[in-house]
Amino acid sequence: MTTTITITGAGGQIGYALLFRIAAGDMLGPDEHVRLRLLEIPAGLGAAEGAALELQDGAFPLLDDVEVTDDPAVGFAGADHALLVGSRPRGPGMERGDLLAANGAIFGPQGAAIAANAASGVRVTVVGNPANTNALIAAAAADGVPAEQFSALTRLDENRARAQLAAALEVPVASVRRVPIWGNHSATQFPDVGHALIDGRPAADALAARVGDVDAWLGETFIPRVAGRGAEIISVRGSSSVASAASATIDHVRSWALGTDDWTSAGVVSHGEYGVPEGLICSFPVESVAGRWRIVEGLQPDAGARTRIDASVAELVDERDAVRRLGLI
Ligand code: NAI
Repeated sequence: MTTTITITGAGGQIGYALLFRIAAGDMLGPDEHVRLRLLEIPAGLGAAEGAALELQDGAFPLLDDVEVTDDPAVGFAGADHALLVGSRPRGPGMERGDLLAANGAIFGPQGAAIAANAASGVRVTVVGNPANTNALIAAAAADGVPAEQFSALTRLDENRARAQLAAALEVPVASVRRVPIWGNHSATQFPDVGHALIDGRPAADALAARVGDVDAWLGETFIPRVAGRGAEIISVRGSSSVASAASATIDHVRSWALGTDDWTSAGVVSHGEYGVPEGLICSFPVESVAGRWRIVEGLQPDAGARTRIDASVAELVDERDAVRRLGLI
């Protein structure tokens, strides 16, 4: 079998960190051949073509074909997975409305091109920021493609949260499960340790023994550290998170395509779960079953968690209303 994967912004930094791992089989497993379509704007074509030459030099046994294009109809033709990485970053002094409008001009047409050209079961992962609202715009423009086939990346936030909790408890990260991200992929996100398990046991006691006042630690240390990790990476590294974002993208698509054995996080369309307005692309605890995301239901967020979820959802509502006013959805 060969799976066709379209990567937009393939000539950019995350693209460069992503392509070689996909070609190596890290995303879909060691038995799945892949065909890559690298979709760029004209200014990014040279970088994407260079990456394609290097992919050839990698002599990857699973890589059947690489095509570079700036034509969305060609780029999305037959795509089984579309990774929408290329976007318009916030420039100095750029207002949120300008940012949303600039990205609407990218993600609207891409959603339409996906509907017209991709495989009917295409699964779309939006990485480019603002990821949740870009996914909303793309899904709205993709006539005939169910919104359930679109999701936004919040796995990087979850990976960061699991790693921070592991560090605080001095346990291996593999011991830490069920730390979902709720809401928006932004500073308002809520990384939730309320259900966390350490080697299958609730984390609460171990956490209290280690940090004392758990609420204070969550509010003053853990949540700001996770939500502000992107800024921390920029200040230390001098450049944004790239390899970790690519790695989380691989994790996200692998979970979606191959299934999960426990909760993870993804921005998925709400049907009203947990009071989140229908139609928003909101991060929830999810499982992946038979190639579909399924929101974990029946959790009872406590009052503190509820307040944080509501604040992040309110931001998503604001973004949705802003793109509605701009006529983008
Ligand atoms: P980059 O600037 O290095 O690369 C972006 C690429 O996208 C460029 O090559 C550009 O030519 C291309 N591009 C722009 N418009 C395009 C279009 N209409 N069609 C196809 N390609 C287009 O940026 P980088 O570091 O690769 O980051 C990409 C995005 O990922 C940014 O929006 C960043 O904020 C976001 N990001 C999201 C994360 C998440 O967890 N959801 C984590 C880290 C980054």
